[in-house]
Amino acid sequence: MKIGRTLVSEEEIQQRLVEMGAEITADYEGKDLLLVAVLKGAFMVMADLARNIALPVEIDFMAVSSYGAATQTSGVVRILKDLDQEIAGRHVLIVEDIIDSGLTLDYLRRNLEVREPASLEIATLLLKSGLQRVPIDVRYTGFEIPPEFVIGYGLDLVGKYRNLPYIAVMEEE
Ligand code: PRP
Repeated sequence: MKIGRTLVSEEEIQQRLVEMGAEITADYEGKDLLLVAVLKGAFMVMADLARNIALPVEIDFMAVSSYGAATQTSGVVRILKDLDQEIAGRHVLIVEDIIDSGLTLDYLRRNLEVREPASLEIATLLLKSGLQRVPIDVRYTGFEIPPEFVIGYGLDLVGKYRNLPYIAVMEEE
């Protein structure tokens, strides 16, 4: 496998995150907002999106692992690291890098809803078109992309390429 064409450039990502940040700022004005990123992939979008939100937000992280093959979601999710804080009565925004089958988020949303947050919404940089196996209500979407295997900007191939500042398609050699 090798890095193929760029699907979303660094400039396009950063420009879109400015827009999303402005939208989130307007929507949560005067509210106590907690951003929750799902490791590891979302570390980069969390860092850049948070800098575009002009509110005194708090941040927290969860780490989950899906069982099964490395490049496919099985739908069975295991929590490796839970939130450090309680979210009852708080406005929570889950920050994701990509929604593929939607199974990870479907699990997370149900898991967090039980804790009775004041609100629970989802922001994702990338949404793969037509692959969702469960209906996912996404409040903020950066880009809808075709169902190809992508890497970069947090997304990996067996652990590598997360540090690329853009999103690219992996191709056969
Ligand atoms: C990716 C991504 C989402 C999930 C989306 O994480 O960050 O959490 O897959 O897939 P789904 O919509 O099909 O559930 P991954 O499991 O690859 O872990 P990583 O972020 O540590 O790379």
